Amino acid sequence: MARALVVYESIFGDARKIAEAVAEGLKGSHDVDVVAASEAPHEVDVDLLVVGGPNHGFSMPRESTREGAVKQYGAVVEDTKHGLHEWLDAVRLAQGTRAAAFDTRSDHPKLLIKMDHASKTEEKLLKGLGATLVADAEHFYVTDAKGPLVDGEEERASQWGRSLAGKVS
Ligand SMILES: Cc1cc2nc3c(=O)[nH]c(=O)nc-3n(C[C@H](O)[C@H](O)[C@H](O)COP(=O)(O)O)c2cc1C
Repeated sequence: MARALVVYESIFGDARKIAEAVAEGLKGSHDVDVVAASEAPHEVDVDLLVVGGPNHGFSMPRESTREGAVKQYGAVVEDTKHGLHEWLDAVRLAQGTRAAAFDTRSDHPKLLIKMDHASKTEEKLLKGLGATLVADAEHFYVTDAKGPLVDGEEERASQWGRSLAGKVS
C-alpha cells in the first residue's frame, strides 16, 4: 500500500484534529502516520506528505508567536523554538515526493480569511525541498484563537484527505 505522512504543528489542538481527520481520509488507500513536527523524522520517504499548522501573525508560527500564544492565551508549549517551519527547514525528502499543505485560521474578519498566509509559506518550503504539490492548499477555520474548529471542519478535512488520495493513486 502507498505510504503517507501527515506532519503538523498545533498550539491549541485544532490543527492536530485536522491532521488526524486528513489521515482518516487517506486511510482507505494509504498506510498513514500522523506526527507532530517536533517528533517527525528528518529523512522522509513516502508517497504523499501532508503538512499543516496554524496561522500566526500572517504566517507560520515562529518562536516569537509561540511565546505570544503562551503569554497572551496561556498556551502550554514545551519548546517554542521548534515547530513545523523549523522541521521543513531541516528535513530531507525523497526524490519525487508529492505533497499538500493546509492551515488553520480565524473565521473572521472576512478580509483576513481571504488572505493566504501560513499555507503559502508551507507550500514555498515544500517546493524548495523538491516536492510536487498535488493540490491547492486548504484552509480550515476556528471560531476563536484557542478554537474550537468551526462545525463540520473535521469532516471537510477527511474529505480533503480522500480527494488527495484520489489525486496520487
Ligand atoms: C500568536 C497568534 C497569532 C495569530 N495570528 C493569526 C493570523 O494572523 N491570522 C489568523 O487567521 N489567525 C491567527 N491566529 C489564530 C490561529 O490561527 C489559531 O489560534 C489557530 O488556527 C488554532 O490552531 P491550533 O489550535 O492548532 O493552535 C493567531 C493565534 C495566535 C495564538
